[in-house]
Amino acid sequence: MSSAPLRVGMVGVGTISAQYFASFEKLPNLQLVAVADINEERAREVAAEHGVDARSVDDLFASDDIDAVLNLTIPATHVDVGLRAIEHGKHVFAEKPLGLSVTEARPLVEAADAAGVLLGSAPDTVLGTGIQTARAVIDDGVIGDVLGASVHWSAPGHERWHPNPAFYYQPGGGPLLDMGPYYITSLVTLFGPIIRVSGLATRSDRPRTVATGPQAGTPIPVAIDTHVTALLEHESGVSSQITVSFEVWATRSPLFEVYGTKGTLAVPDPNRFNDPVEVYTADTAEWRAVPETAGYRDSGRGYGLAELAEALHNNRQPRASGALALHVLDVMESIARAADERSVVTLHTTVERPETVPLSDRPEASENS
Ligand SMILES: NC(=O)c1ccc[n+]([C@@H]2O[C@H](COP(=O)([O-])OP(=O)(O)OC[C@H]3O[C@@H](n4cnc5c(N)ncnc54)[C@H](O)[C@@H]3O)[C@@H](O)[C@H]2O)c1
Repeated sequence: MSSAPLRVGMVGVGTISAQYFASFEKLPNLQLVAVADINEERAREVAAEHGVDARSVDDLFASDDIDAVLNLTIPATHVDVGLRAIEHGKHVFAEKPLGLSVTEARPLVEAADAAGVLLGSAPDTVLGTGIQTARAVIDDGVIGDVLGASVHWSAPGHERWHPNPAFYYQPGGGPLLDMGPYYITSLVTLFGPIIRVSGLATRSDRPRTVATGPQAGTPIPVAIDTHVTALLEHESGVSSQITVSFEVWATRSPLFEVYGTKGTLAVPDPNRFNDPVEVYTADTAEWRAVPETAGYRDSGRGYGLAELAEALHNNRQPRASGALALHVLDVMESIARAADERSVVTLHTTVERPETVPLSDRPEASENS
């Protein structure tokens, strides 16, 4: 028996919203009802384009025909928007990071628990076939016992393509809080929670200016570190090293590799959903592509919210959960602290490694609901 779709109100209709609109068409357990933005004119334009209602942000929260708020605002407003939605009894799925700090974001997780609503957070890229198949390779023992992983993400800076990039250089942005969630959420999905970190962080004095769109040429104030390297100790004993940077013009570093006693796993880009996994084993002595064995096929941004809808029907927590995002935020904040203090920081949050996603086209409402 199929059940009614989760009725969704989208708050924040900026650059990333286009990817979510594209996914709604593939996700029958979600129904987009209305959009809102502090820029009400933009909300009206986008609503007309997609044939949904435009409402004020307050009206959207107060709407009886909305079950869940999809929060696509900038990092500095994730917690505030989320708390207001929860106050109105809405489930919430938010873009990453969960908030600017653990202190700011923990009340969001607590408020959702207290209100009995579900809280989910990007990145949902980890639910795609890329990371999920990589995890299946590890869980099946194909590369033997895992010892460590190496992660590198770098670019010259998001101001080269984003029309409104100032937030990337403010608290909540930077390569650590902007790109870290993809990699660290993937590391936790693959190897479980992290217990200790150390790190180094720096920034250049290279001037940053908006490169595209109506604001082109506008200088961007830089309030964050733009080159960060860290060592992460997982509770499972695996050690990961990670570099994220807005300072690199070109690199030949591998993006994401996992080293085991029997082989090496090349994990696909965790900012994407469905790229192929490759593995090298000592016995085959060659790289080979791994067929998709787990995760949502041909997925995109929004599948995490659809998975939350499935979780709601099955009376369980979502995989891309607020608790996972809080742990990842704690890891990132602890890296920054370790870098400031030149210390090793022990984490105070933990999370269970989320369940594997069976190979499927999309999340579904429960047969039993
Ligand atoms: N742009 C990308 O490629 C990308 C990719 C993945 C994730 N994200 C994440 O998505 C989020 C949004 O990024 P974006 O690039 O779409 O930013 P953006 O600046 O293009 O859009 C943000 C929108 O939110 C609105 N907004 C801001 N504060 C609000 C509030 N309090 N209430 C209602 N609306 C508000 C803004 O008016 C704007 O329309 C960020 O957390 C970012 O990390 C962006």
